[in-house]
Amino acid sequence: MRILVVNGPNLNLLGTREPHIYGTTTLWDIEKGLKEKFPNVTFEWYQSNSEGAIIDTLHKAVGSAFDGVIINPGAYAHTSYAIRDAISALKVPVVEVHLTNVHAREEFRHHSVITSVCRGVIAGFGSKGYELAVRSLLDS
Ligand code: DQA
Repeated sequence: MRILVVNGPNLNLLGTREPHIYGTTTLWDIEKGLKEKFPNVTFEWYQSNSEGAIIDTLHKAVGSAFDGVIINPGAYAHTSYAIRDAISALKVPVVEVHLTNVHAREEFRHHSVITSVCRGVIAGFGSKGYELAVRSLLDS
């Protein structure tokens, strides 16, 4: 199983970014924890603050290079039709992850433009959401 994990804007700041909301776990901690937990899965881990770079990375999953994709699009979840279209172009399952329960936060976070083209969405379980996303891909 080869999984592409794509992280969007500001997630590189996890650990120091609004810790009362996002906690103190860094993106590196999440990556390391996931690789330790699933030694039989090959992960390609990616983070970018740029919409175009995220789309270019999603295009790596157009062919047969990956069996599934996990994406935390950050705030692009709420705005980016371009990322939505890139996900629509993929044949492999895509799981949307949010660390926080976006539905319990500001109104603008309640809607994601990508959810309807994803296999499913996991929100509100912190870094464990990535682990749940891997498990859902392994079971699918
Ligand atoms: C987030 C939720 C988004 O609304 C926010 O813009 C983020 C992080 C999350 O993981 O909870 O950057 O995707």
